[in-house]
Amino acid sequence: MPEKIDYDAKIPNNVDLASDRRLQRALEGWQPKFMNWWGEMGPTLQTQGVYLRTAVSVGREGWAHFDHVNVPDYRWGIFLAERDPDRRIAFGEHKGEPVWQQVPGEYRAELQRLIVIQGDTEPASVEQQKLLGLTAPSLYDLRNLFQVNVEEGRHLWAMVYLLHAYFGREGRDEAESLLLRNSGSPDAPRILGAFNEETADWLAFYMFTYFTDRDGKYQLGTLKESSFDPLSRTCEFMLKEEAHHMFVGTTGVDRVVQRSADLIVEHDTDDIAPHGGIPLEIIQKYMNFHYTVSLDLFGSETSTNAANYYTSGLKGRWMETRRKDDHQLTDSAAVLERPRADGTWETEELQAILLLNLDLRGEYIADCQTGVNRWNKILSDHGIDFRFALPHPGFNRDVGINSGHHVTPDGTIVDEPTWQAGKRKWLPTTEDLTFVRSLMHPVYERGKIASWVAPPRQGINGKPFDYEYVYLT
Ligand SMILES: [Fe+2]
Ligand SMILES: [Fe+2]
Repeated sequence: MPEKIDYDAKIPNNVDLASDRRLQRALEGWQPKFMNWWGEMGPTLQTQGVYLRTAVSVGREGWAHFDHVNVPDYRWGIFLAERDPDRRIAFGEHKGEPVWQQVPGEYRAELQRLIVIQGDTEPASVEQQKLLGLTAPSLYDLRNLFQVNVEEGRHLWAMVYLLHAYFGREGRDEAESLLLRNSGSPDAPRILGAFNEETADWLAFYMFTYFTDRDGKYQLGTLKESSFDPLSRTCEFMLKEEAHHMFVGTTGVDRVVQRSADLIVEHDTDDIAPHGGIPLEIIQKYMNFHYTVSLDLFGSETSTNAANYYTSGLKGRWMETRRKDDHQLTDSAAVLERPRADGTWETEELQAILLLNLDLRGEYIADCQTGVNRWNKILSDHGIDFRFALPHPGFNRDVGINSGHHVTPDGTIVDEPTWQAGKRKWLPTTEDLTFVRSLMHPVYERGKIASWVAPPRQGINGKPFDYEYVYLT
């Protein structure tokens, strides 16, 4: 398997596409459909070039090249991480056997489903972010938006390659459908709830890239452990690109908090809205919303599907190979906290293998907490007493054991009237959303930035903040 990417081919790739004419023709047939989708559902803002990174190698060093690119000419390609010829299955009933280079017949339907669900999220986020280019707070941010968007497009390519290469006719049909479902569409919505919510403003974009892209990181992490080696290698390379999306989220929220804190100190008031800043309570409400819809993406806490995926070797745990246990989980236990109708929490012990979604969610929550700590550090450095907090995992949930219960951010189970009364304090209200949107004006002069966000500490690829990241007409 050559590591070098063939950029002369119509579809850049490192999977030696040229040696499989049928597959190559099938993918070249899908390519114009992708371009139509990008034209219709991709970024609305037209530019004369964006300073983008393009993958040039999948090795450890120097994998990316930066240059101004006319966005529709971006080279979307198929890149798999290098193959480890000695790789063996790390968990489940096939543990120790060589990994699979082809799809085993008995797991075909499940593997295809996992790939379709992952694939569906990638173009969905591009659709959700379609209009954001019209209101970016700086050229630097605008460039990052385009970078995230083209890479989500590439992640769609990654999943479509697997469907075409390994799942025959059905796979090709699924690849078509990935372009036909659309975020928020009443007739043909995206598969998962969070991907049908619009990303209507830039605070939502930073929260999305922090919380929802981070869910993606954890899902890809479990698929990277898959016994189906092409899936594993695909996800490994996607994770590399995904790191930048999370950087955009982490530093984006950093910069909003930084700006709000500066304004609070400067004007000696928490009411910074008249000064063009976003009040900390509103930032907390956005956090509550994006965090909880992202928790829903982990599925039900107890799941026999997840247990079966694990036993069959299709989907592992986060950092599977670093875990110190038998990697089969046939007789280990784990604990679940369940809300009861009488308003108390009950602790239940279950087989660990039934709680794998909860296990992954736990890893994710711990990771999310690191961001909250960073943002609180900014506040304490400014001498501000306010502290951000992640809400209780039972708060505002539509999926799993908490759906149908009303749980406050501090984990109290409450009745319907109390919930309705509290909601305004915990989740963004129409007024909050309208206020944040009122701040969203494009700032497209070099080196300038909107009122509600601080400039980044550093630019991209060693360039300064005032670099011309995007050429506009
Ligand atoms: Fe992605
Ligand atoms: Fe992403």
